[in-house]
Amino acid sequence: MIDEIKKRLSQITNPVSGKSFEVEQRWQHISMQEDKLVLEYNRDGISPTEKRLVEQEIIKTLSDLVGVDNIMVKTVSSQSQDVFKALDKVTPAPSSTKEASAPAQLKVGHGTIDKKKPVPGVGKIIAIGSGKGGVGKSTFTSNLALTLAQQGHKVGVIDADIYGPSLPMIFGKRNEKPRSNSEKKIIPIEAYGIKFMSFGFFINEEDPVIWRGPMLGGVLNQFLFDVDWNGLDYLLIDLPPGTGDIQLSMIQNAQVDGAIIISTPQDIALLDAKKGAEMFKKLNLPIIGMVENMSSFVCGDCGKEHFIFGHGGVHKAVEQLEIPFLGKIPLEMELRTGSDQGVPYMTQESLKDRAVWSSFLEIGKKVDDFFNPTVDKPKAGLFSKILGLNK
Ligand SMILES: Nc1ncnc2c1ncn2[C@@H]1O[C@H](COP(=O)(O)OP(=O)(O)OP(=O)(O)O)[C@@H](O)[C@H]1O
Ligand SMILES: [Mg+2]
Repeated sequence: MIDEIKKRLSQITNPVSGKSFEVEQRWQHISMQEDKLVLEYNRDGISPTEKRLVEQEIIKTLSDLVGVDNIMVKTVSSQSQDVFKALDKVTPAPSSTKEASAPAQLKVGHGTIDKKKPVPGVGKIIAIGSGKGGVGKSTFTSNLALTLAQQGHKVGVIDADIYGPSLPMIFGKRNEKPRSNSEKKIIPIEAYGIKFMSFGFFINEEDPVIWRGPMLGGVLNQFLFDVDWNGLDYLLIDLPPGTGDIQLSMIQNAQVDGAIIISTPQDIALLDAKKGAEMFKKLNLPIIGMVENMSSFVCGDCGKEHFIFGHGGVHKAVEQLEIPFLGKIPLEMELRTGSDQGVPYMTQESLKDRAVWSSFLEIGKKVDDFFNPTVDKPKAGLFSKILGLNK
C-alpha cells in the first residue's frame, strides 16, 4: 500500500507554482507507523491558506486508502511561518514555580488516547460552543469560570479556539509562556484564581494558523491530558466557533460531561445554534442549556431596553429543541472593555448591581445545579407551617 500512497502523493500539486510535489522535491518523509500514515513536506513559499488546499488534496487523494483520522501531516519550512516551528520559538517565562523546568511544547500530530478517557484530577468538563463566531463565547466562558469560582469551585479553562484564541487577552496574560514541570506536564497559566491554557500561548499572533481537524483533536487531547490541572471541580472548553468536523473531532475522544450553546437572538445565529445542539446530541453529550447573549441594551440616557439583535428567539429555539434555557446576558459596555483590558467583568466588584452580573450568578448556579442538584428548601406553605420548617 505504501507504494500506492507514494505514487499518489507524488502528484500533489503546489497551488502556488502549479508544479507537482515530486518535481519540486517537496516530500521529506512518507511512512506508515502502525495504522498511522506520517507525512512531512517542505512548505517553503506556501502560505497557510494554500497549505490548507494542499492538505485537502492529500486527504482527497488518499481517502479511499487511509482513514482521515490516521493521516498526520507535518511540514518543515526554512522560513518558519509554520505553526509547529513557531512552537520552538516559545520562550521561557521567568519561573514562578519551583518545579518548573522547561518551556512547555506541544507535540505535533494526533491524539492517540483511548475513547472517552476521563481527565485525571478534573471533576466535570463542560464544552462551550456556538454555531457562528463573534457571539460572545469567549466572553461568556471566561466570566462563567469566574462566577463558578466565586461560588466556591476550582475552575480551569481551555481555550481551544485556534482561529482566535482570546483568553490570554481576556485574562490579561498575553505575554505569558507556559512551562512544563518535572513530570513533563504543562503548568497552566493562572489569572484571578482561574487556571487556563490557550492555543494563543503556542502560536505567534501574526501567524494565520490552519490546522487540520484531526490534528486539532490531538492538541486538545494534550491540553486535557498533558496539563497539570490538579484538582479542578470544573474545566470549561471554549470551542472554536462552528459545528463542523473540527469541533466534532476535538471532543469526541474526551469524556466531556455537558455542553452549553451560546447564541445571539438573531434568526441566523439561532439556526447555527440549532446545528450546534444537533452536533452535541450526536455526540451523546448532555446539553446543559442555551444562553442568549447580547439579548438587549438598556440605554443609559433614556432607560429604555432596546432589542438590537431581535427578541425572544432563543426561547423559541429551546422549546423546539427541548433543551433548558440558562439565561440571557444583555449588552453592556463593560463586558467588552473588561475583556479588552484583561480585567474581566466578573472580577469588577463595582459592577455587582448590574444586570449582567446577576445573569452570570444565575447561570453559574444553574450550571452547578445541573451536576449537583440542590433540593429546594420548602416554601412557606401550609405543610411547611405545620411542620414548622420556616421559622
Ligand atoms: N453581552 C455583551 N456586551 C457587550 N459586549 C459583548 C458582549 N458579549 C460579547 N461582547 C463583545 O463582543 C465581541 C465578541 O465576543 P467574543 O470574542 O467573546 O465572541 P466569540 O464568540 O468568542 O468570538 P470568536 O468567534 O471570534 O471566538 C468582543 O469584543 C466582546 O467583548
Ligand atoms: Mg472566542
